[in-house]
Amino acid sequence: MNRRQFLQFNALTLASASLGYAASGMSEHNMKNMMNMPMTHNMGAMNMGDIDTSFIQFAPDNTRLLNRKVFLSGENLAPLKLLENESKEKNFFRASIIIAESEKEFVKGKKTLCFTYNGLVPGPKIEVYEGDTVEILVKNKLKEATTIHWHGLPVSPEQDGNPHDPILPNRERIYRFKLPENSAGTYWYHPHPHYLTSKQVARGLAGVFVVKAKKDVLSHLKEQDLMISDLRLDEKAQIPENTLSDWVDGREGEFVLINGQFQPQIICNEIQRIRIYNCCAARYLNLRIQGAEFILVGTDGGLLEQAQTLKEIYLNPASRVEVLIKPTQKGKFKLESLYYNRNKMLTKESQNSLVLADISLQYTLNEFPQTLRKFEPLKPPKAFKEIIMSEANMVAMQGLNDNNEKEIKTALVSMFQLNGKSFDIKRTDLYSKLNEVEEWVIINDSDMDHPFHIHGTQFELISSKLNGIVTKAPFRSLRDTINVRPNEEVRLRMVQNFKGIRMYHCHILEHEDLGMMGSLEVQ
Ligand code: C2O
Ligand code: CU
Ligand code: CU
Repeated sequence: MNRRQFLQFNALTLASASLGYAASGMSEHNMKNMMNMPMTHNMGAMNMGDIDTSFIQFAPDNTRLLNRKVFLSGENLAPLKLLENESKEKNFFRASIIIAESEKEFVKGKKTLCFTYNGLVPGPKIEVYEGDTVEILVKNKLKEATTIHWHGLPVSPEQDGNPHDPILPNRERIYRFKLPENSAGTYWYHPHPHYLTSKQVARGLAGVFVVKAKKDVLSHLKEQDLMISDLRLDEKAQIPENTLSDWVDGREGEFVLINGQFQPQIICNEIQRIRIYNCCAARYLNLRIQGAEFILVGTDGGLLEQAQTLKEIYLNPASRVEVLIKPTQKGKFKLESLYYNRNKMLTKESQNSLVLADISLQYTLNEFPQTLRKFEPLKPPKAFKEIIMSEANMVAMQGLNDNNEKEIKTALVSMFQLNGKSFDIKRTDLYSKLNEVEEWVIINDSDMDHPFHIHGTQFELISSKLNGIVTKAPFRSLRDTINVRPNEEVRLRMVQNFKGIRMYHCHILEHEDLGMMGSLEVQ
């Protein structure tokens, strides 16, 4: 089958219309070819209904990317700028964030138009303590709606930046929440407006949020953040729209940045507690340092019970870890991300590993605490939920021409589903009881990997099942996002401690925008 031709269209009902694909790859910029193929089915008869597809924009066919050589590399990694606490009161954090378009100079002499939090990419780091009350005034100076979602934090739904609560252009609101004891962990924040999350993150909106314990077994260590994001720049150093492949596979910017810097030099002159964040929309990371091991001490929701020694750190989109790094000897190393096959549908990719940074480790690590903390196991579950991830049946797109861009978009918005449905902001999909422990089984019945995320709580992985083989979680940990491979089933245990609407979705942000999301009402 030739590359131009692998998408076939079959006009079924609106609900089942979707993109299809076959084994061959598609280049980023041959959507035009696909769209020029002859019509073989009567698309016109399809009822387009009132599905909004206007948020889907395609990059022009002739978009050229910036030559990566012009990107400055090798600079020392700078720490993230802190969001300033304007409060003098104890246990109170008060600050303000302005969301606006501003220009950043990623590449010398070229101004890139971005969306920024307080003029920064990445946004300012928020650092607070367990038990603190947080009050953040947010002003939206963008031309479109936005929200701030506090990814992973136990905040009440009406303060959590749901798509139901947009901050309209030129409006402001205050987010206010109190962080409970035992919520110390490594979180982040990003926009969550209806349909526009992937676009706003691609343009620069994301920041990290650390909740520190007043005291834990590692609180004597110096800390460093590695906030990993990816950026695409066209030859004019501007951030282009998505391609069709981006919408289907999730967009991966060609420039992988750490704290906004390209291939920086990380310096550790002593043992450090390093927090690593995957803030990419769709890129999976599998970190390795040849000549060093990672001591995994924490995941999304804070410290593990027992430290784990690992050669590689796997981070699907939206996941975070805390690690110590143990070099075999003092020296300079490379921080790389190894290739991980997540079964992309359209994008052809090289299977190379990627150098993210140089890292200088000027210490040896002989001893570290093995036991980090204890957290109570959740009680046996009282309720059960099942989520089936699917890509609507491999229908087709043979024969779409330029006039059929609308059909392609319509197919996209019904392609990625949870329990057979695309997201509808007016619908509640599931109900849970307040404070009741639940077991959730997430089943990936599709052909690509999807990272599952739920708001407002941290879950524990109990087991996973692939090809009939059940694997128990190798160690206890708290997380809010977990990858599910094709045909895999993961079993999670969790509880929701606030009433209201919670979102759960695929954290490939394009999939989220295209409707791979549902809402849960906690009653
Ligand atoms: Cu980080 Cu609903 O997302
Ligand atoms: Cu979230
Ligand atoms: Cu997905």
